Amino acid sequence: MSNKSLVCAIETSCDETAIAFIEDGNKVLSNVVSSQIDTHRGFGGVMPEVASRLHIEQISLVLKEAIEKSGVSMEDVDAIAFTQGPGLIGSLHIGVLASKTLAWYYQKPLVPVHHIAGHIYANAFVTEIQFPLLALVVSGGHTELVYMKEDYNFEILGTTQDDAIGEAYDKVARVMELGYPGGPAIDALAKQGTTQYVLPRVKTEKPLDFSFSGLKSAVLQLVLKEQRHGRELDKANLAYAFQEAVLDEVLFKTKKALETVEVRQVVLAGGVSANSRLRDRLTRMMNSYPDIALSIPPLWCTTDNAAMIGAAGTVAFKKGIRADFSTSAKAGYDLEV
Ligand code: KG4
Ligand code: ZN
Repeated sequence: MSNKSLVCAIETSCDETAIAFIEDGNKVLSNVVSSQIDTHRGFGGVMPEVASRLHIEQISLVLKEAIEKSGVSMEDVDAIAFTQGPGLIGSLHIGVLASKTLAWYYQKPLVPVHHIAGHIYANAFVTEIQFPLLALVVSGGHTELVYMKEDYNFEILGTTQDDAIGEAYDKVARVMELGYPGGPAIDALAKQGTTQYVLPRVKTEKPLDFSFSGLKSAVLQLVLKEQRHGRELDKANLAYAFQEAVLDEVLFKTKKALETVEVRQVVLAGGVSANSRLRDRLTRMMNSYPDIALSIPPLWCTTDNAAMIGAAGTVAFKKGIRADFSTSAKAGYDLEV
């Protein structure tokens, strides 16, 4: 098969309806994302039923816009890549159904993509991905250290025992009344904060696993204690303390993982990779590993989008990974199989 490829990618795993056209795995012809965030903000988090309904309303409009912006026609496409999971089942179904319909109508192969593979391959837009690599995946639903010995081969070295990192940001932001999503709000507020509050550091049984729920409870306890004592909470200082504690955990485990695997590259992935302090601290940490390249995805490709599904989908397509029309969405979906 030639290296030329044109992939239409569809992502609907959570609250973004997204379609992209990707050429040769890393050229974005179009990348349309319709975010439902303003609707969900009113609920303080993503409402699954509402998300599914909005995907249904948006998907044909997003497709039309993505085709128009790309300047290509569906007949030129080599494959339809879609997020099969993990994610909200009702949301995933809409993208799967749209993909099957397009694949049937235009007689194109269907390529299933794991959402996390998409986040990892988002780095293809800024770097040549080198193997073996270690991916630090930090998102609203995932916190994982993934070892890839070669293209499209995933081994999970560590994962969260409780909350995902983004989930912890969002929950702590709710306690601090900062609105939804909490990540960007805490990121911005922490810039004005300093070391007033002390939060406990995390302990996990497995050396490469993560845990964030203890930290979340500690923040809640601290907020309640300040209220009891009639003291005004310094939100910037609390945002700072929480963020430093979370990032200490993430960077410490990444360092530990680098003791167990030999890699040529470390890649950051997932919605929380937009975090300015994480980008900064990881960059500084990796300066002490001169033989390991670091890749940080561009900001536009950190939170959910279909371009990243197209990047991963192109690799999967070339590897011969296919789905047939009996395929369906997988709310829980193992990256390693
Ligand atoms: O990858 P993503 O779009 O969704 C999942 O696949 O889960 O990640 C969304 C998460 C949310 O929890 C959001 O609060 C977090 O990414 N996030 C951030 C920042 N921007 C988004 N967390 C910390 N700092 C940020 N700047
Ligand atoms: Zn995501």
